[in-house]
Amino acid sequence: MVHTTTTHIPSGSFKTAKKSNILFQAHLGTCVGVAIFDDHANIGGIIHILLPEPVSSFAPEYPEKYASIGLPLFLQEMYSMGATQDNMVATVAGGALVGPLSHQDINLDIGGRSTDIVMKILCREGITIKKSETGGFFTCTLELNLSNGVTTIRPAWSYNYNSIHKETHIENSNIVEVEKPSKDSIENTIESLNPIPQTALKVMRIVQKDNYTINSIEKELQRDQVLASRTLQMCNSAIFAGKIRIETLKDALLILGANTLINSVITAAIKNYFNQSEANGYSMCRGGMFFHSVGCAVTSEIIAKIAGKIDPKIAYTAGLIHDIGKVVLDQYVAKLYPLFFRELHQKKADYLTAEQNILGITHCETGVMLAEKWCFSDLLIDVIKYHHDPQSSPMSNRDIVSIVHIADLLMLRFNSRVQTDKTESANLNQILSNLGLSISDMAKIIDAIPLHVFDLNS
Ligand SMILES: [Fe+2]
Ligand SMILES: [Fe+2]
Repeated sequence: MVHTTTTHIPSGSFKTAKKSNILFQAHLGTCVGVAIFDDHANIGGIIHILLPEPVSSFAPEYPEKYASIGLPLFLQEMYSMGATQDNMVATVAGGALVGPLSHQDINLDIGGRSTDIVMKILCREGITIKKSETGGFFTCTLELNLSNGVTTIRPAWSYNYNSIHKETHIENSNIVEVEKPSKDSIENTIESLNPIPQTALKVMRIVQKDNYTINSIEKELQRDQVLASRTLQMCNSAIFAGKIRIETLKDALLILGANTLINSVITAAIKNYFNQSEANGYSMCRGGMFFHSVGCAVTSEIIAKIAGKIDPKIAYTAGLIHDIGKVVLDQYVAKLYPLFFRELHQKKADYLTAEQNILGITHCETGVMLAEKWCFSDLLIDVIKYHHDPQSSPMSNRDIVSIVHIADLLMLRFNSRVQTDKTESANLNQILSNLGLSISDMAKIIDAIPLHVFDLNS
């Protein structure tokens, strides 16, 4: 039997290959994917486009991110491998329009413009467009089978739903009577979680004060060798450092700077909770919850810098912990997954309503229970409680809640592979304007997100 290897194409990149037993796969929300195959030269590839064009006049570090300059590079690579315009056939997908009108603005503004540019370039090059499914109402997965050049577009969530549905043999008729987790069982789960390291809590508190020194943070870390070594590991991960080896906390401070060191401490403390998550719970893949949390943390930090209203370090922490309640509910979601998915995608329930109907409690509520047990600050508790509805949060913390809400929305639209979450934002324009931002700032925010945030394998 011939084994097919699946290769994921992250946002902002492209891959090409000769005919082989490889399946190229790109998960698309607002991003646009183009799959091309030349069945004479037997060469194919996929580009996963994030933005229509560069947002500044400087030469971009990663041109592959943009339709206007990334697609020509992708085509150039295929030509240099032997592909010719006459034999190249393209499939275009993505640019989804999901959610209420204001939510669609981002998609129209970014996904729609990327699609237009893609179509113009393909026409100009004389490349046949065999299939084009853009601007639909679902996030989708674009696949190119390099053994035969066949391309497929399907709803991204159908993978999990179908596989689990088959595995558990749960039919529509008998999935109605499923027991919700009891209050006791949820409380026991919260009790059974290891307490968050005191050092991490102290660092989180110190960072929320205006006048802290990095020395006070170093001192705390010296008292907790386990967290200190986890922090060093984190400093050496792709999230923070990349290529330079960091051996000591002093090195980390010198090379990465105080802000990154602080973010590493908090991320190292939180990682284990998210790592226990199930592959088929809230996340569509193992490690997905942590990946989503880091993505929201980095994006929240960027939005805070652009909006200038909140200390970016506080925004990072808030983005990191916003979904902490999912750690408590993940095992229940994993058991009730078909029901949960049916509620979300077939009945089109909003996310918190689906949780309430299926589990009897939301991840915002379990998150608050956990945060209170861990003595999180009021600011972090408000982020956890209101991140799906920032307009209901108290005015004192509305800015930070709004920042995390927008980060969450962007991660779900542009990093659609990892979470089942559906963040609705009927009030997006209002939420942005509270922060002094508008829809047109979205491209700038997305452009500032480091590419590793979109690549689960980094
Ligand atoms: Fe959430
Ligand atoms: Fe989230």
